[in-house]
Amino acid sequence: MTETPDAYPPSPEFAAAANVDAGVYERAAQDREGFWAEQADHLHWRRRWNQVLDWSEAPVAKWFVGGRLNVAYNCVDRHVLEGRGDKVALHWEGEPGDSRTITYADLLTEVGRAANYLTSLGLTAGDRVAIYMPMIPETIVAMLACARLGLTHSLVFAGFSPTALRQRIDDAEARLVITTDGQWRRGNPAPLKEAVDEALFAHGDVPSSVEHVLVVRRVGIEVAWTEGRDLWWHETVAQTEPAHEAEAFDSEHPLFILYTSGTTGKPKGILHTSGGYLTQTAYTHRVVFDHKPETDIYWCTADVGWVTGHSYIVYGPLANGATQVLYEGTPNFPDEHRHWQIIEKYGVTIYYTAPTLVRTFMKWGRQIPDAHDLSSIRVLGSVGEPINPEAWRWYRDVIGGGTAPIVDTWWQTETGAIMISPLPGITATKPGAAMTPLPGISATVVDEEGNTVRRGETEANGYLVLDEPWPAMLRGIWGDMERYRATYWERFAAQGWYFAGDGAKLDVNGDLWVLGRVDDVMNVSGHRISTAEVESALVGHSGVAEAAVVGATDETTGQGIVAFVILSADATDTGAAMVKELEAEVAREISPIARPREIHVVPELPKTRSGKIMRRLLRDVAEGRELGDTSTLVDPQVFENIRTGRSE
Ligand code: WTA
Repeated sequence: MTETPDAYPPSPEFAAAANVDAGVYERAAQDREGFWAEQADHLHWRRRWNQVLDWSEAPVAKWFVGGRLNVAYNCVDRHVLEGRGDKVALHWEGEPGDSRTITYADLLTEVGRAANYLTSLGLTAGDRVAIYMPMIPETIVAMLACARLGLTHSLVFAGFSPTALRQRIDDAEARLVITTDGQWRRGNPAPLKEAVDEALFAHGDVPSSVEHVLVVRRVGIEVAWTEGRDLWWHETVAQTEPAHEAEAFDSEHPLFILYTSGTTGKPKGILHTSGGYLTQTAYTHRVVFDHKPETDIYWCTADVGWVTGHSYIVYGPLANGATQVLYEGTPNFPDEHRHWQIIEKYGVTIYYTAPTLVRTFMKWGRQIPDAHDLSSIRVLGSVGEPINPEAWRWYRDVIGGGTAPIVDTWWQTETGAIMISPLPGITATKPGAAMTPLPGISATVVDEEGNTVRRGETEANGYLVLDEPWPAMLRGIWGDMERYRATYWERFAAQGWYFAGDGAKLDVNGDLWVLGRVDDVMNVSGHRISTAEVESALVGHSGVAEAAVVGATDETTGQGIVAFVILSADATDTGAAMVKELEAEVAREISPIARPREIHVVPELPKTRSGKIMRRLLRDVAEGRELGDTSTLVDPQVFENIRTGRSE
């Protein structure tokens, strides 16, 4: 029997042809700002910056101070002007089997039309636009048109509820919503514009900031129409003149807001700006995936509604002139072969997905991918949650033909771009480890007091912190700079470090392993959901008096949501029907991805003397473990009651 290796170095051939060599770490460490300036030089600047980094107003950074650029020009025009207009930008696969090939020249035409039309609506630089759309080319066109005009886009994942959409529209005071009539869901059209109408009309007719709703026809279903407010894309944008001159904006001009779960019920609008963000997304896409624009066919399976889609479908890859696959549907429609068929059809060379999907593929069985020729694949990526060694090895062996390097990329909505990851031509990767901060990035693992946990000899756990500013870092929380400071910078204020909210370990070689969240944020299939958000959806139901939610380990989804609820006196039903109703309520209030895996009706909840719910103990219950330390509980008897309650 062959031994299972602990580490997997790149092949000599891969290493020899890689975009960067091992000396890059040293070079970047010696002159960090000079290194980032070199990366920024890969972009087109209308006016060069006069200072790489201004950290004088920490924790709000300014990168490439005084520089001016147009993000969309960098992602589209530049490639066309440099003679690559005929290069395919997007191989789009629709869920029902339709497809479109969009070149960079096509993209330029479409983005120009959209930019001209949005201008005619009276939108000007700095205005906010909400985009609530499925995975179709117009979504990317809409994003790039906003970027081109200096409009700040706010994508809302098309699986989010009308309530969640309205909350995000209100917070950003969006003037325009771009959406579709509906979206394909496993062969059926599901309405989407309807959710926009509900978001805008609901709330007791409180008027919203929205002036227009621009609707792309995707599935051809009937939609309600508000004259004067609603506009069809095909009657407006598509009829508009494409020629459009891109204006340059300040390097720190806001590019987008993207909402993410925090530890309270209110989502945080993470703000990203232009020059530094584009520099780091393009750089990381180039070095982490070893991307070669002439030969690679790149596919990132994320939804554009999440940060991975923003940075590694739209901005990074397009800035690098990539040819990529964009797929609208689910991996098992019409059957479980879909991804492998797409890889075969286009000869995908770089495939970037989430561990939860890898585990799902494992469950479906290797005979499915084995029925396809996946030999084009040369780099595999993982993002969103820790990847367990078993899934890692399966991914490399079955999908990567036993040779493709895996880059396990750690980053967050807040970091904007990849921060910690192997480099595929350099790193001897270890199954489950994100390994090393990228050249130009500084990260460390510290204890409660902020002392670096010891390197070497023994392995040590601690908190993951970022101890130097980085170009793609968030510039704040939209409308709430105080919360920005409190959330990320207070924990290690003395040292001036960014606290990521993740636990991590350094192994005996000093390599970094991300262990998962240390706060009340759950990670379900790579989606961040806060316990507070789900709790507030539950107590919003008249039948619920109190609720406590924990993330319990789940074989496929990483974590599953487990809720404990105390019913109120006026609960009409106390049994299975109530549980079903509560599950549906959470899905309705937030999104189907937040639907609890289990809801337990209990007589009481374990609390400390100061009245805090002891989630650690509830997690023990949810995961079927022996109870941990219960000494701070007011009434240890509570658990007997919960257990009895559970088994009923
Ligand atoms: C987790 C997604 C382990 C982590 C890009 C982080 C990871 C949160 C990894 C951010 C990884 C992301 N290994 N954990 N490679 N990548 N995470 O904002 O807990 O949706 O804080 O950004 O996902 O999730 P977000």
